[in-house]
Formats: sequence, C-alpha cells, structure tokens
Amino acid sequence: ARVAILISGRGSNMMSLVAASRAANSGFEVVLVASDKPEAAGLAWAREQGVPVFAHSPRGIPKAEYEAAIEDAIRQSGAEAIALAGYMRLLSPEFVGRWEGRILNIHPSLLPKYKGLDTHARAIAAGDAVAGCSVHLVTAELDAGEVLGQAEAPVLPGDTPESLADRVLKEEHRLYPRVLAEFLAR
Ligand code: GRF
Repeated sequence: ARVAILISGRGSNMMSLVAASRAANSGFEVVLVASDKPEAAGLAWAREQGVPVFAHSPRGIPKAEYEAAIEDAIRQSGAEAIALAGYMRLLSPEFVGRWEGRILNIHPSLLPKYKGLDTHARAIAAGDAVAGCSVHLVTAELDAGEVLGQAEAPVLPGDTPESLADRVLKEEHRLYPRVLAEFLAR
C-alpha cells in the first residue's frame, strides 16, 4: 500500500517508517512526505532519501485552500493512507471526512490519557509508573479516534519530561511501522 506522511519538524517517526518500508515484505511504500514547515529537519532527510516532498507553509493561505493543496499532492502521489507523524496542525473535519478511516497518528501517551500537548510532563506530575505511546485513527476530534496499538515505557525516578520523551520515542519508532503495516493488511 502507498502511504503519505505528514510532519512538522524533526521527523524521527517518519524516518522509522521510511526505513521500515524498505525492508522486504514491509507491506507499504512511502510515496510522499509533506510538511507545513518548509524548514523541517525531516524534509531534508526525506529529499536525500529520494522520497517526493511537499514543502509549503500555510502562512497567509486560507485553511481550506492549503488543505486542498496538500490533498492534491497526496492524491497525485497515489497514497491510499495518510500517516501523521508529529504533524502539529489540526486537519479540518472536511479533510478528515474525505479520508475517513485512512488517517493514522502517533501520540506520545497511553490514550485515552493525556490527549493534546505536554504528555510527558503530565504523566510525571500525576506520578504515573508507566508511560507510553499510541497509534490511533484520526477523527475530527483531537487524539480521540480508535486506538490501533500501544507500547509502554517505564517512568523512572528522576525522569524529566525530556528523559521520558526519549524513552517513549524509542518505543514509538518500533510501534508505528508495525501498527501501520498491520492496519494496511487488514
Ligand atoms: C512524537 O513524540 C510523536 O508522538 C508526537 O510528536 C513527536 C514527533 O516527533 N506526535 P518526530 O517528529 O517524529 O521526531
């Protein structure tokens, strides 16, 4: 199956998906990496890897028009599914509706806990012993769609949001390729 990935920054999950896609029998191919931040570090990497990129800022463009431009690029790429990987913009209900059941996201918490931002600081503040990440279907409501898979990581004494984020991120890089492949095969 062909997949488009949307990013806004570092792109480490995107890199793990591209790397996994190149393994034999991965079950998917990354046909586009799109970013709303033309300077996103992940974009340069994707270009070097020969993956087609869409790199346009939405600044000064009405949201519907910007989404139409991204969607054009996605359709031209032949993608059948969209994987959000650190994409920091909320997709409109109209966009989500047109791709219903075909957009995935990775979120750094064990959903339904800690939707939104600052998940690791909130897990530490709550005294949680276990943190983690979730891959879920995207619906118009933030971080609320069906959870397709999760991975856990311990919260250790002395953890800062950064140290916990590093530990969870390693799990993200394992979880996302596996869950995406399973999803596309179902
Ligand atoms: C990850 O922690 C992901 O769970 C969250 O945003 C972060 C993106 O990191 N949605 P990266 O750009 O994939 O490195």
